[in-house]
Amino acid sequence: MTNAATARQAKPDRPAVRLHVVTGKGGTGKTTVAGALALALAAGGRRPGERRILLVEVEGRQGLAQLFDTEPVPYEERRVAVTSDGGEVWALAIDAEQALLEYLDMFYKLGPAARALRRFGAIDFATTIAPGIRDVLLTGKTCEAVRRRSAPGAGHGPDRAFDYDAVVMDAPPTGRITRFLNVNSEVSGLARVGPIRNQADAVMRVLTSAQTAVHFVTLLEEMPVQETLDGFAELRAAGLPTGGVVVNQARPVVLPEDRLKKAAQPGGLDPAELEAGLAPVGLADPETVGALTALAAEHAQRVLLEAGQREELAATEAPMYELPLLGEGVDRVGLNLLAKELHRQGAA
Ligand SMILES: Nc1ncnc2c1ncn2[C@@H]1O[C@H](COP(=O)(O)OP(=O)(O)OP(=O)(O)O)[C@@H](O)[C@H]1O
Ligand SMILES: [Mg+2]
Repeated sequence: MTNAATARQAKPDRPAVRLHVVTGKGGTGKTTVAGALALALAAGGRRPGERRILLVEVEGRQGLAQLFDTEPVPYEERRVAVTSDGGEVWALAIDAEQALLEYLDMFYKLGPAARALRRFGAIDFATTIAPGIRDVLLTGKTCEAVRRRSAPGAGHGPDRAFDYDAVVMDAPPTGRITRFLNVNSEVSGLARVGPIRNQADAVMRVLTSAQTAVHFVTLLEEMPVQETLDGFAELRAAGLPTGGVVVNQARPVVLPEDRLKKAAQPGGLDPAELEAGLAPVGLADPETVGALTALAAEHAQRVLLEAGQREELAATEAPMYELPLLGEGVDRVGLNLLAKELHRQGAA
């Protein structure tokens, strides 16, 4: 276990953050970590329902519904989980087309006209919308939820005018994250003035502020670690606020350090020593000793490689959190366990 994983923190590292963006290489656990972080942030209220977190997804894949084992999440905020102390996690699948219609409604009072536009297929999103516009709609909707507290009742529907304590975004992967968040430069060639420009400016005000943190999920493997380092550099160059590194699926270390080094060397652990240890339980036959020596060598080599990856990650100078590999997969019990870990380590 690293220091990050063993230190107990009384206070979260980022109490001022209201938008947690979770990115990382594909398949490393972004959706899982975003869900666990939302649960961790939702806990700790003084009374049930006091803390309310919104979890958003932007890629139209219904990952959140799968994670929380609920019906597909519509373009509408839905409660998907309640913590043991009554904190609430709500989920929203943001869809660019729906966000556009809402946006037209809000700015141009084009309700029926927008619906007609859609009916006639004039807004054929998949093929016609510029990626920059799509992104500003997705981030715009997210930032609207983030800003709600500071502007109560401003410009959103009467039925879902909740204030959230924080918003967690299950974001696009590392390779696309800077472009996705940097909507200003994305729309600069498309809209120099007008409402889209204003929207992009409002989004950038939230995204570049201390209210936002972009966290990276990684495994202790070469590719995701390299992507994490590149992602940090890119975000920093774009003036976007970085958060922590979440090392996911960390495997337990079962040998003490001096043994590890020895086990990793050619020849590995001393067979005589192993034999002496195994004899009392009647397992000291050469086959078992040989198999265990090989296993210990494999374990040791992996642990040492992982230590190297951890060192690489330290170059980000970001806070590090570490989540265990859950042998049974990620069900609700597992997700709660990950949430507790994130809380214990100060991520929430
Ligand atoms: N700590 C963990 N222990 C065990 N399994 C895990 C852990 N974290 C994630 N997984 C599993 O790994 C798989 C990928 O996780 P997840 O879907 O969260 O990744 P992702 O980064 O969101 O992927 P994608 O890039 O496809 O969106 C899932 O099957 C998930 O249940
Ligand atoms: Mg995902």
